[in-house]
Amino acid sequence: MAQKTVLFKHLEQPEIHRLDVYRDAGGYGALRTAVNDLAPAEVTQMVKDSGLRGRGGAGFPTGMKWSFLPKEYDTSYLVCNADESEPGAFKDRELMERNPHQLIEGCLLAAYAIRARHAFIYVRGEYLAIKELLDAAIEQARQAGLVGERIFGKDWGCEVSVYRGAGAYICGEESAMLDSLEGFRGFPRLRPPFPAVRGLYGKPTVVNNVETLANVPHIVANGAEWFKSTGTEKSPGTKICSISGPVNRPGNYELEMGTPFRYLLEDCAGGMAGGKSLKAYIPGGASAPMLPGDCQDVGIDFESYPAAGSTMGSASFILFPEDCCIVFAQLRISEFFSHESCGKCTPCREGSRWLRQMVERIEEGGGREEDLPILLDVTDNMVGKCFCALGDFATSNIVASIRHFRHEYEQHIRERRCPFRPHPAAEPLLQIAGVA
Ligand SMILES: Cc1cc2nc3c(=O)[nH]c(=O)nc-3n(C[C@H](O)[C@H](O)[C@H](O)COP(=O)(O)O)c2cc1C
Repeated sequence: MAQKTVLFKHLEQPEIHRLDVYRDAGGYGALRTAVNDLAPAEVTQMVKDSGLRGRGGAGFPTGMKWSFLPKEYDTSYLVCNADESEPGAFKDRELMERNPHQLIEGCLLAAYAIRARHAFIYVRGEYLAIKELLDAAIEQARQAGLVGERIFGKDWGCEVSVYRGAGAYICGEESAMLDSLEGFRGFPRLRPPFPAVRGLYGKPTVVNNVETLANVPHIVANGAEWFKSTGTEKSPGTKICSISGPVNRPGNYELEMGTPFRYLLEDCAGGMAGGKSLKAYIPGGASAPMLPGDCQDVGIDFESYPAAGSTMGSASFILFPEDCCIVFAQLRISEFFSHESCGKCTPCREGSRWLRQMVERIEEGGGREEDLPILLDVTDNMVGKCFCALGDFATSNIVASIRHFRHEYEQHIRERRCPFRPHPAAEPLLQIAGVA
């Protein structure tokens, strides 16, 4: 298992963002096949058979999600989640920047499968240039009859609109995203009903991540069996991994699911910079629990990371070198969650603030012995008690960092100071990761 390019195949063709180049490479062929030869339910079945799982973090089976829509409805919507606000994640950005038509074709195929006539791409506020690029690509596709009414002359048509968020992490959560799209402040909705039943404007809606949708043209073009021949049995396909921190070649790498993290670090990213050793790493952005640096043989897939005590999430790897203070790193993570809590649910709003304040106190030398059990008690009172997973996310690294690096917290409390100050490595690392 190693590098394999499916979604990043276009890296060999720098002009692939142009419609003519994309079409010469076979682009929009899958859409043509689907619209001309397949019923919408057949496209859903194909995606179901492929075993494709959502790349936005939770790994929910994509075809199954599409089949949750009611049998009868007049209007439905497809929403592409391009919010990409998870610290450490920057894969969707490259997918959209390098090959916008791959995503547009994926959106159209998903819309066709659920009989939607309008697809929205919700792009994070900071991705202004990407919004403009997508708008231009959609316009090219419209001129070519690939977007709008009567696609390929059939009586199905689909509009594609790009909507720019305003830079709130919570709007990456699918139900808050729907509120935001409707023009309200992004707050998570209580479920059930799930978006598949009552979503955008109260209509059946599918929300999928950029990478998930970018896989769909390849599945329709090559078949479910082809897709399943890559990766592991339960996590088929490839995964685009973002790796950041003090490594020699940070960036995005597309790997076969199941490839060990060690391969990503050593063979793709060129190992740790300056010959330092790896103290800890987070495999799935700030919301996934950190693991000790020696956990390098874990396969990058949806099963192996939970077995190792973390989650793959969106495969956004943030690395911490030997001289990084874990309490300081945790403080940056806690600051992020306390800032991004939308405030709707009390356990998350108050809990994330308490966690930040306590970690700050420990880092500043004012920690008390009883702080560690109190920190863990606060996390207990947050997990599973909020409308969305942000409350859980705010706790995962508190628990993991105390589990694996309790001695560092204790040293801070005992010595009444941070033994790592000044923080040579953590500041730039966390800035790159978007946490600082
Ligand atoms: C606080 C929070 C932030 C999230 N941010 C993102 C995001 O930036 N991008 C994304 O695709 N999914 C994000 N998700 C997950 C989405 O709610 C949703 O599960 C996902 O878009 C579904 O797509 P998929 O099935 O294709 O993975 C977030 C979830 C939570 C709770």
